[in-house]
Amino acid sequence: MKIGIIGTGALGGTIAKKSAAAGHKVKVANAMPMNELRGTAAQLGVAPASINDVVRDVEIIVISIPTNAIPHLPEKLFAGVPDHVIVIDTTNYYPYRDGNMENGFAEKLESVWVSQQLGRPVVKAFNNLLSYTLENRAKQKGESGRIAMAISGDDEKAKAIISRLVNKIGFDTLDAGSLSESWRHQPGMPSYCTELNATELKRALADNENIRERAGKLRDLTTDNLMTRTTPPSHQEMLDTIRSLFPTNPKHKPSATHAH
Ligand SMILES: NC(=O)c1ccc[n+]([C@@H]2O[C@H](COP(=O)([O-])OP(=O)(O)OC[C@H]3O[C@@H](n4cnc5c(N)ncnc54)[C@H](OP(=O)(O)O)[C@@H]3O)[C@@H](O)[C@H]2O)c1
Repeated sequence: MKIGIIGTGALGGTIAKKSAAAGHKVKVANAMPMNELRGTAAQLGVAPASINDVVRDVEIIVISIPTNAIPHLPEKLFAGVPDHVIVIDTTNYYPYRDGNMENGFAEKLESVWVSQQLGRPVVKAFNNLLSYTLENRAKQKGESGRIAMAISGDDEKAKAIISRLVNKIGFDTLDAGSLSESWRHQPGMPSYCTELNATELKRALADNENIRERAGKLRDLTTDNLMTRTTPPSHQEMLDTIRSLFPTNPKHKPSATHAH
């Protein structure tokens, strides 16, 4: 498939590398001038593109930038992009990074806000896997303990296409429902970045209405915990911290924080 990715950071860069390695034709754009982007793209094994060209002549567009950068994308970026082109939103809102934007999200639905900003339907995917997980924890289909990614959106065909792509790069997927259900895999929820297999993820996505209101607090508790450390947390420490927040998380480990 032909894929255009906006953002070449930890997550966008990993999606680019993995997709290219799986045989897709990938081009990327970021906020750097073209002469700097060329080096980044070469390292990822993909083509560089201007922000306006990265959305042209592709079947999938991946948005992988901080939430607060979304309003700075060019106005009318998607004008002329055919309706069948799938737009994936990978973003997660973090106040410590993005500032106070939450009041703008109706019912705290981050991807609904992104979709409104872009003027396009989006599918929320890749947001509940850490870039480290994506880079290092792929498994063959059917292998035990294969990690699953949540996908939500209103276009069933688009979700099926993304699911095939994700399976090919080493992860199971689970349909979390329509975009209005996407809060189930936002930061602060048990499904968020805790490396669950499909059975565990299904449990983690189910109901949870009772903790929906607390998700923002739990998200901030995680970042507070991780940012007060004197040395950068390892991937395992990040996982343990996130998992510790929820007794209901299928991989819950008490102790890393005291959230309850
Ligand atoms: N990292 C993870 O494990 C992870 C996992 C799931 C979801 N996410 C979410 O995915 C998104 C990207 O995360 P990340 O960790 O990859 O961030 P990151 O490492 O900080 O990279 C952000 C990328 O966005 C680009 N960018 C910023 N403003 C832009 C603009 N106006 N136009 C074009 N490109 C722009 C940056 O360009 P430059 O390189 O030119 O600065 C950079 O390549 C975030 O919303 C994050 O919450 C991250």
